[in-house]
Amino acid sequence: MDGNGRWARRRGLPVAAGHRAGTKALRRTVEAAIDLGVESLAVYAFSTENWLRPPEEIDALMELFPETIDRELRDLASQGVRTRFIGRRDRASAELQRKMIELEEETAEKTRFQLWIAFDYGGRGEIVEAARRAAAAGVELDEPTFRSFLYAPEMPDPDLVIRTSGELRISNFLLWQSAYAELAFVDTLWPDFGEEQLRSALDDYASRRRRFGGR
Ligand code: FPP
Repeated sequence: MDGNGRWARRRGLPVAAGHRAGTKALRRTVEAAIDLGVESLAVYAFSTENWLRPPEEIDALMELFPETIDRELRDLASQGVRTRFIGRRDRASAELQRKMIELEEETAEKTRFQLWIAFDYGGRGEIVEAARRAAAAGVELDEPTFRSFLYAPEMPDPDLVIRTSGELRISNFLLWQSAYAELAFVDTLWPDFGEEQLRSALDDYASRRRRFGGR
């Protein structure tokens, strides 16, 4: 969900206003994804590297996350959205940790749409953590066994990864899971993203031929 900061700067607003607009885009995009027949969506909300941002921005984001759970994600739950979080939990406030667990529990039986939120998430960190846990378990490793040590082994591998705001990078997102994902880079800043942009990325995806290394 990249581009919140630039969206705010272009309007002479504080960066927090960009993140707030980003929460509206998240809700809009999930609703559009449901309408377009998508079944599962993972979004990158906060990376392990985002802790390096200025304290005022971190504080604003850490206030926004519980608020978004209460305001947007509970409403999505009433539309049948199951939400789960991937990433570290130990550095979030006790309140946020509690709200994450509550939302996961409250939506556990929802089946219309699966939403995965990467929070305090880093792909390398996830792989190292999985390797550590696999070593501690003393199991013989193959790919399916390794996957079982990831944050959410049941999360489907992404078919399509969309990076907003014109940046051409993966930035530590789902490194294991997106080995064969198709990539879409769009110039739209995240707060302006919505149905039109999602539809266009899906149309482009539909025209591609996936080979998974074969002919
Ligand atoms: C990246 O844009 C965006 C973030 C670091 C935060 C995204 C978080 C939200 C939209 C809130 C969602 C809330 C929940 C609970 C899922 P940036 O600030 O790096 O943009 P820039 O590159 O233009 O500065």
